[in-house]
Amino acid sequence: MKAVDGKVLVIGAGGMLGQDICARFAPHFALITASRRSGDIRLDITDGEATRRVVAENAPDVVILCAAYTDVDGCERNPEEAYRVNAFGAANVASACADVGARLLFISTDYVFDGAKRNGYTEWDVPRPLSVYGASKLAGEQWIREICPRHWIVRTAWLYGVGGKCFPRTILNAAREGKPLRVVNDQTGSPTFTGDLAEVLLKMVSAKVAYGTYHAVNQGSATWYEVACEVVNLATERGLLSSGVSVTPVSSWEWLSPTCRPAYSVLNMERLRWAGIPLPRHWKEALQDYIQRLDA
Ligand SMILES: NC(=O)c1ccc[n+]([C@@H]2O[C@H](COP(=O)([O-])OP(=O)(O)OC[C@H]3O[C@@H](n4cnc5c(N)ncnc54)[C@H](OP(=O)(O)O)[C@@H]3O)[C@@H](O)[C@H]2O)c1
Repeated sequence: MKAVDGKVLVIGAGGMLGQDICARFAPHFALITASRRSGDIRLDITDGEATRRVVAENAPDVVILCAAYTDVDGCERNPEEAYRVNAFGAANVASACADVGARLLFISTDYVFDGAKRNGYTEWDVPRPLSVYGASKLAGEQWIREICPRHWIVRTAWLYGVGGKCFPRTILNAAREGKPLRVVNDQTGSPTFTGDLAEVLLKMVSAKVAYGTYHAVNQGSATWYEVACEVVNLATERGLLSSGVSVTPVSSWEWLSPTCRPAYSVLNMERLRWAGIPLPRHWKEALQDYIQRLDA
């Protein structure tokens, strides 16, 4: 890939996806990192004044907003905080970008959809979130569309990465501790490796693809149960687990959670395809890579 000149401000740089974005973008862009608790700059995006100042002072060409209130059950319990960060925080960043003419790349979620579809959500399907998290992220999308015309909204799903707490790691740890693995088998989605997503984002920004809404996930689909089985198989093959670990499929109602999640939220990637951006590999291949990295 050719080197691209420009300055990129990553907000939420210390998060699971943020760390991979920084690693992928650093060789190609001058990078400035911001988060509430880590990075070059301490920034809380709910503070509109501070957000405007940080963006104006650093004059980035592109701002990547991957900061969010991502605790889905926490959002259900604290809806005000969810909207404060995911909607108004996004609006603050959008106005700051519009003020200085920076392009804004916002990370959104499959949870904007209700799960009633059965053949993959496209970028033009109508969102209907079931949860506070999904609704607050959708409100963030809407503010961005209204405030900052030079934007990319990239919806992704079921993220896991080396730099954060995530489902495959939780399964691996639970299996190692000999805990029973009872995993939901009636929610189907697009498990996605943060390293692969970061690579797609880099390609999108470098190619300056048309503004608008995109989906970016690893290909294929799975239930949480299927992902857990694959984690156990791969980890057993690599000697990280002893053989004989079993996973029991359960239904969502057996899993006590305040959040209503979509039963089906697989994302299709029509716009990436049209833009000529290579689609990320199949989720099983990506998961294998992830397990190898944990083992290294
Ligand atoms: N995880 C998933 O499965 C998933 C699925 C679909 C979409 N997404 C989206 O992908 C993005 C990245 O997710 P992730 O899992 O990597 O998140 P994460 O690990 O929870 O990281 C979130 C980051 O946001 C920062 N942050 C939170 N509130 C902030 C605020 N008010 N001001 C500034 N920074 C703030 C946190 O910084 P501090 O720790 O310093 O506070 C942290 O660095 C999010 O937009 C999320 O909605 C995630």
